[in-house]
Order: sequence, then structure tokens, then C-alpha cells
Amino acid sequence: MSAPPPAHAPLAPEAVDLRTRFAGLELQTPLLAASGCFAYGQQFAAFTDLRRLGGLVTKGISPAPRYGNPVPRICETAAGMLNSIGLENVGVDAFLADKLPFLRDLGVSVWVNFFGTDFPTYVECAERLSAGAGAGIDVLEMNISCPNIKHGGIEFGTVPEVAHRLTKACVEASSIPIVVKLSPNAGDIVGMAQAVKEAGAAGVSLINTITGMAIDVRRRRPRIATTYGGLSGPAIKPIALRMVHQVARALPDLPICGIGGVMSGEDALEFLMAGATTVQVGTALFAEPGAIVRITEELRALMGELGIADVVAAVGVLEAIPPEVPYVPA
Ligand code: SIN
Repeated sequence: MSAPPPAHAPLAPEAVDLRTRFAGLELQTPLLAASGCFAYGQQFAAFTDLRRLGGLVTKGISPAPRYGNPVPRICETAAGMLNSIGLENVGVDAFLADKLPFLRDLGVSVWVNFFGTDFPTYVECAERLSAGAGAGIDVLEMNISCPNIKHGGIEFGTVPEVAHRLTKACVEASSIPIVVKLSPNAGDIVGMAQAVKEAGAAGVSLINTITGMAIDVRRRRPRIATTYGGLSGPAIKPIALRMVHQVARALPDLPICGIGGVMSGEDALEFLMAGATTVQVGTALFAEPGAIVRITEELRALMGELGIADVVAAVGVLEAIPPEVPYVPA
């Protein structure tokens, strides 16, 4: 029988330090709003104190505006949500002119998710965001994991050599650090993370949605117009944790932002313990726009209860796991 984990004296929640570092950035907490679940931030200001977030990640931006996919493009599933928005967004110019100033003034870290429909438009997008942002963007989160568009997105997110070439080209075009958002639909998640790391990525966001389907049996139709969509929410949390853990063990120097069904402070702590240094909250925001502030306080209280003084002390700390669980790529 393995030894019980050592006891740690509880701490008052106020004594817990939630500051964290990610790819050279200092964040006041590890909790960020996930891309696509918080638009460009403004609409949420009426519901929550945005200055209390660790940061926020915008909806994916492309060089030109997009209307996205036909409706219905979102539906609820057991313990989750299926979406096929199709990366609707205002485009680079309108983002820089109309959305970024608001975000810059919040004083929290600003991550801009971006994508293209082919190789040149990915690079163009990284270049134009980087050139036009002044000091207003902290991270460009490169989306090679959207399952809902015909060209771009996950097309670049399943073959490590392709992801490597694209990441390298975008890193060279940008003065802002690039974090690559990877897809759980890629077979070998460690291989993908390794490929983008070697291409100069400052970190990875793990994971985007998993392709799924829901059917309205009375109408004999898929519930969303594109038939398939991306599944998010608590249903995917165990998969996300497994992937964060595998990448953290294989590539301990690569910063990881964990994503997938975070609804509570305990969920967030699971991601930190698996090896993430920041955590994004997404689907929870559709039901509870103020979820991140609640989750922040739950995390602080739980870390205090467990005697964990700061985020660094939580990251990658798993007691009593076998030292050599073999990693077998799918
Ligand atoms: C979408 O807009 O279709 C979702 C974005 C994503 O999965 O990256």
C-alpha cells in the first residue's frame, strides 16, 4: 500500500497566493475566460468584475470578418454543449479598432485567439494582429483545433509536421508570444505539443472541443445545422486532464493552459495538479456569466483548506502516482 499523502496545515484563504506565470507573463490568477465563451469581453462587464480575472481569450479572429455557420449552431447535451459556430468574428481591423481598446484598459492579460483558412492567411493574421496591437495583446492563441470549418482550423491540427511549419511561420511573423490551442481529435497529443514547441510556441492550450453529434429523434434531424459540432463542458474534463498530464510529463518546460469543463475551484485545481499553470473557463459561462469570480474564490478556499500556499506549489503535484505510467500514442 502506498503511503498516505503528507498532511499540510490549512491556511486562511487570504494567505493563498493565486499569482501565476505563463510564458514569461505574470497573471494575478490562473483563471481565464476561454475563447468563444466571452466574445470580446464588453457584454460580460454588466455581470461580473472583469478586473478580477487572470485574463481573457477573445473569440477567434481571422483576417476578414465571418458570419459563421447556419443556425441552429449550439445545443445542450448531457454534461456538456455542442457548438458549430463556424468562427464568426469581426475580423482583424474591426477587432483592433473597436474591441481591443476596451480589453487593454481592463488591466488583465489579453489573449487573442486567431486563425486563417489557409497557410498564408494564418501568417497574415498573426502579422497584422502583432503589428496593430501596440502593447495591447499579451498572447496570440493560435487556433489549429476548430472542428467546425471546412478550411483551416483542425486541418492544421492533426499532423505534427504541418503544425510545426505553420507555428514556425506565425512565430516568425509575430512579436507577440504564440500559444497553440491543440485538438483532442489529434491522435498523438504529445507529438503535436512537441512539434509546436520545437517551432517556437511559447506554450499550448489543451484542449479544444471533441467532435460530436446530437439528434432530435422527433424531427429525425441532427440538433445542429452542420450535423457535427464540438463537444465541451464537464463531459470532456477527464479527457482534457489526461492530455494535460501526458504533455506535462513529457514536456515539463512547456507552459500549459488547461481547458475542459471547469465548473468549480476543485476542477481548476485538478488542472493545476495535472500540470497546467493557467486554466480557462468556457462552457460554464453560458449558464453563469460570473462563474470565473466564483471559481477563483472556490480555488482560493480549497487551496487554503489543503495547505497549498501558492499556484507554483500546486502545479504538477500529484501524490502517489506510479512513476512510469507508459505513454502510448493512439
Ligand atoms: C466555432 O466557432 O465553431 C468554435 C471555435 C473552435 O472550436 O475553435
